[in-house]
Amino acid sequence: MGDGPVPTSDRSSRAETELASGEARPMSSASGSPFDGVVYQIYPRSFRDASGDGVGDLAGITAGLDHLAWLGVDAVWLSPIYRSPMKDFGYDVSDHCDVDPIFGSLADIDALLMAAHQRGLEVWLDFVPNHTSDQHPWFLDAIGSREAPKRDWYLWRDPAPDGGPPNNWTRDFADGAPAWTFEEATGQYYLHEFLPEQPSVNWRNPDLREAMLDVLRFWMDRGVDGFRSDVIHLIGKSPQLRDDPPELRGVPRAGHHHEPDAVAPHLRAIRDCLDAVPGTTMVGEVNLPDAAKVASYVGPDRLHLAFQFGLLYAPWEARSWRDTIRYVQACFESVGVPPTWVLSNHDWSRIASRAGGEDGARVAATLLFTLRGVPFLYMGDELGMADAVVPPERVVDPGGRDGCRAPLPWTTDASRRHGWTGTPWLPWPPDPTRHSVEAQRDDERSVLHLHRRLIALRREHPSLRSGAMHHLDTHDEVVAFERGDVDAQRAPAVRVLANLGASDLEVEHAPGWRVLLTTALDPAREGAPFSGWLPAQSAVLIESAAG
Ligand code: BGC
Repeated sequence: MGDGPVPTSDRSSRAETELASGEARPMSSASGSPFDGVVYQIYPRSFRDASGDGVGDLAGITAGLDHLAWLGVDAVWLSPIYRSPMKDFGYDVSDHCDVDPIFGSLADIDALLMAAHQRGLEVWLDFVPNHTSDQHPWFLDAIGSREAPKRDWYLWRDPAPDGGPPNNWTRDFADGAPAWTFEEATGQYYLHEFLPEQPSVNWRNPDLREAMLDVLRFWMDRGVDGFRSDVIHLIGKSPQLRDDPPELRGVPRAGHHHEPDAVAPHLRAIRDCLDAVPGTTMVGEVNLPDAAKVASYVGPDRLHLAFQFGLLYAPWEARSWRDTIRYVQACFESVGVPPTWVLSNHDWSRIASRAGGEDGARVAATLLFTLRGVPFLYMGDELGMADAVVPPERVVDPGGRDGCRAPLPWTTDASRRHGWTGTPWLPWPPDPTRHSVEAQRDDERSVLHLHRRLIALRREHPSLRSGAMHHLDTHDEVVAFERGDVDAQRAPAVRVLANLGASDLEVEHAPGWRVLLTTALDPAREGAPFSGWLPAQSAVLIESAAG
């Protein structure tokens, strides 16, 4: 390999090698995505700091890649690393084609791409298509006058007859505040579905659309393998920016912020652009409560994959997880595309906090890697990290999300800042020594080792990798399903049984199943016939005798 990033033409070779081996068949996908691995989300500010300023950076991520290769993930997705005033910590982009100095430089991303590709890891960036920073040169042009060349790249409207905002839309991060800011100089309001410093762009303007596609081309040319697209549904707003219906008043980003007919041509254009570099994947954040609507965003002329956040928002109880899994599965099977599964991210409380601690986190991880679909693992979940408690004087995020963005502890030594060279920008998660990479690498019974085993099993076991999924009815407190039907001769079926309840219980089962893995910290049972016993807050993988 030369000095620059890996050329884009070499990128699909890994998937092709796997296909050729015949061992590992990717899930069939009507969206045309060859990607069926595990994606690890890095929140760059909090992953690892090489510069010593207490904020994570690209050189830190490169230094941490061996950990991720050891863990066995296939791709890393970096939350935004572009130039930004950081009002929304990078989701307010002021230059899409440069790296913010706090994270490093373009040379650092080239080095990261090369190091990742050498380890067989894909690198996905966050594409932020719905808005820019108010400091972006596009907006600085647009705000200048009503005739400015880029005026129509954003959404400007005259005041309502009473002088108020042009419609009833409200914005995020502010209870019921309008999604509009009045700009004195030109006497019009501009739309922003998030902070006033994040003006929403106008995808109906062909030049804006082309400029956004150029951003994708810029990064694909540099060797980037995929993208996570921020709130992509919002680029298809009602052309008339119609008022939301009364029942959705005050609900940010609902109603007419996204209309299927309005978004379809933009998805098609994005897809054509991505298809120019085969092997490139895009997962869209389509943050809608109904998985059936989310599933309408994937397909051969739209996204490869879409986030549905069913398990992120479901309360930790078996009935709710069962219903969510069944519904999501049905919605995505009907369009022939694998769903994604997400337990945590940089916007929501972590799974260890929501599932009552480490035992629950182990159970949830077992489901994440055994469900049919593409798992997204949020950095720190592999260590069983819970949300940090952030005292009021250290709160920095306008959306109250600091707790789930706590820094990753690398070493056990608190006196040496758990491997960070500077004091981290946010407080540690609870018990950072126990939840450090160092402590957990040394302990084969750790949450980290459980993740590594699950990821390896998902890759190596044909039924988990590509088998169909059938739901099983066992017990009220249990989520249970079977993966199999790959090749009855060679691939034994796998059953997953997860007890989310507070009591130990026994499930009925057919004889002839042996334990592949248990989260109950009782490795003695592994390899033994399954007895039916499921301790409280534990999960087990069992394998049929056939095979
Ligand atoms: C991102 C958030 C961000 C928002 C605005 C979201 O969906 O995940 O972190 O604040 O979009 O860009």
